[in-house]
Amino acid sequence: HIPVITIDGPTASGKGTVAAKVAERLGFHLLDSGALYRLTALSSMRAGVSLIDEHAVAQLAEALPARFANGDIFLGEEEVGAVIRAEEVGNNASKIAALPAVRQALYALQLAFRKAPGLVADGRDMGTVIFPNAKLKVFLTASVEARAERRYKQLIDKGISANMEGLLADLQARDERDTHRTVAPLVPAEGAYILDTSDMTVDVAVEQVLHWYSL
Ligand code: CDP
Repeated sequence: HIPVITIDGPTASGKGTVAAKVAERLGFHLLDSGALYRLTALSSMRAGVSLIDEHAVAQLAEALPARFANGDIFLGEEEVGAVIRAEEVGNNASKIAALPAVRQALYALQLAFRKAPGLVADGRDMGTVIFPNAKLKVFLTASVEARAERRYKQLIDKGISANMEGLLADLQARDERDTHRTVAPLVPAEGAYILDTSDMTVDVAVEQVLHWYSL
C-alpha cells in the first residue's frame, strides 16, 4: 500500500513549497496538481479554445502532453515552468478548474502519480476527491494579507513589477471562485489537520507536517 500525503489550501498559502520540501525529505514523488490545471489553461489559450467551452477544454486536458522532470515542467517538447506561473495563466486555470468535465479528464492522470515509495500531492481537492484515503491530510492556509505579501515578494524577486492592491483583489477573486464552485470546492478534507502558516516559516511548517506523518 503506497502512502499519500495530501496538502490542500488556497492560492499563495505556501503549500507548493511545503509539499516539495516534505517530498524531498521523505524521498517521495510529488504531484503539483495546480500545474496540470495551468497546463490545460495554457493549451487552451494557445489553441484559441474558449475557456467556457467545457467539451473542448476537457478534450485538451484528456490528451495533455504533460511531463515533469527534475523540477522542469514540459508541455510536449517545450519547458513551460515559468510560462505557466504567469498570473494570467493562473487566473485562467482557476476558470477552467470549475468545469466538471475538465476535472474528470485530469482524474486518472493524477492517480497515476501514486508510485512507490510514496506521494505528496499538492492542490485543492487532493484530500477530498483524488486521494480520500490518504495516510495524512493537511489543509494549509494563511491570512489573505500574508498570502498577498508572499506573492508580492515572489514576483519582485523574479523582477516582475507587482501592485499590492491588484494582488489582493486577484487573490480574493481566486479564493471566491475556488471556494464556491460546485465541483470539488476548496474545503478541508475530513480528518485534515489545519495548518495556519501566517506567522510561520516554511521550515517550521515542513517539520509540523513531518511530525504529523510520523504519528
Ligand atoms: O499557486 P496557486 O495556488 O495560485 O495555483 P495552483 O495551485 O497552481 O492552481 C491554479 C488553479 O488551479 C487554482 O486557482 C485552482 O482553481 C485550480 N486547481 C484546482 O482546482 N484543483 C487542484 N487540485 C489544483 C489547482
